[in-house]
Formats: sequence, C-alpha cells, structure tokens
Amino acid sequence: MSEKNVDIAPSQLGTKDFWDNRYEMELANFEENGDEGEIWFGTAAENRIIKYLIDSKTAKDSEILDLGCGNGSVLRKLRSKGFSRLTGVDYCQKAVDLSNATSKAEEEEEDNEEEMIDIKFEQLDITAPRPDFLSLKFDVVLDKGTWDAMSLSEERGDRLKAYIDLLDNVLNENGRFVVFSCNFTLNELQEQFGGSILEMVCEVPATHSFSFGGKQGVTSTGVVFRKKTS
Ligand SMILES: C[S@@+](CC[C@H](N)C(=O)[O-])C[C@H]1O[C@@H](n2cnc3c(N)ncnc32)[C@H](O)[C@@H]1O
Repeated sequence: MSEKNVDIAPSQLGTKDFWDNRYEMELANFEENGDEGEIWFGTAAENRIIKYLIDSKTAKDSEILDLGCGNGSVLRKLRSKGFSRLTGVDYCQKAVDLSNATSKAEEEEEDNEEEMIDIKFEQLDITAPRPDFLSLKFDVVLDKGTWDAMSLSEERGDRLKAYIDLLDNVLNENGRFVVFSCNFTLNELQEQFGGSILEMVCEVPATHSFSFGGKQGVTSTGVVFRKKTS
C-alpha cells in the first residue's frame, strides 16, 4: 500500500461534523418535502454499479454491504432489481434515519403491490467498527464516495489502514470490493487498496463519457477488487 502521487488537501468533507449537519438538513428536507437528498456522483454512477453487478452474474441472494450508505439510494435500487440481502452502514445516525425513512416510504408507495424485503441500516464508523460487526461476512462491499470523503483528512494513512482491516474481516474469500471515486484515478485506487489482501479484477466501464480538449473522460472512476484466497 502506497500513497505516492496522492496530493489532495484535507477538507471539511473529511469531518463527521460536516456529515452530521448535512444529514440533519437532508432528513428535515425529506420529512417536509419528500426530497431524498443528494445522490453522489449522480444516477449514472449508481446505474454503473447495478449494471456491473447484474452483468457479472452476482447472485440475487448475495450478502451486499454499502459502506457510507448516505440516504440508502444504491441499496434501494438494488432491492428494486431483486437483490435480497442488503445492509447499509454510515457513521452518521441521521443518515441511517434518512435511509430508513426513504426505504420505508418506498415500501408504502401505493403502486408497490409486491412486498419488499427489509434493508438493514445501522450506524457504524468504518475506522472504529464494533467487534460484533466484524464477525459478519459479505460477498460484495460497495463504496461510492465514502473513501473519497474519508480520505480528505490529515489521518488518511491511518484511515486507509483501518478501512482495509475492516474489508479483511468482513469480505468472504473471493468477495468483491467495488469502489467509486471522483478524487482518485484507477492507478491511485490500485495503489491504495490493491496489495496484501485485495487484487484488482477490473474497472467498471462508464455508460457514457465526456470529451474535453480532445481527451475522453468520465466523471467517476469505478474499480472492482477481489479478496485473495489465503
Ligand atoms: C460523499 S457521501 C456518499 C454517500 C453515499 N455513498 C452516496 O453515494 O450517495 C460520503 C458518506 O460517507 C459517510 N462516511 C464518512 N466517513 C465515514 C466513516 N468513517 N464511517 C462510515 N461512514 C462514513 C458520510 O457520512 C457520507 O454518508
């Protein structure tokens, strides 16, 4: 694991206060106006995650964990595609409350005739997980924007180590870690996460890209890693 070539300054987005205030506001907005709040990196990134999981023939009963689930949007989309074992964690209790509120509202929508499975949401800090959580096992772990936020700190190195320790505990052998970032390139993500426990499988292709100054680009980088067999 190396952090060479990574030169991103710490920011407010790397603090829990920022996210606590943000989700307090988003929960109030949801209660008042039904606005579910921000979908980070847009619906295109969500669709890429879902398309990747379906195209790679991920079993619908796979245990899937979303780290830093925010408003729970990715997990709700996965539920709508038939995935049935879904867990989301976030270190902000208000994000967990918002995720519960948005998924319950979806269950209660009048035109939803089929009974929907429950999505489990709970409060958890990736850098200080409870021992009982570490005994759980998942086939797929997702991160959209969470490592990006966590990395905006002077403590990036320690946070990365704690993050990889958590992955080591909760990923099944051959389990996949799917990470989406706007801050880091493919090579940087590989330098940070690839190494002793994870090996890179593939990049998640963009559904569309933009062109600027003759160069092609996409708005977020998606990379899949697999836990090595021991
Ligand atoms: C950019 S938002 C992304 C939210 C969501 N994944 C999405 O794509 O909409 C970053 C999320 O990471 C969460 N987060 C940051 N640090 C965390 C930590 N140490 N443990 C758990 N969640 C964390 C924040 O509360 C926030 O919900």
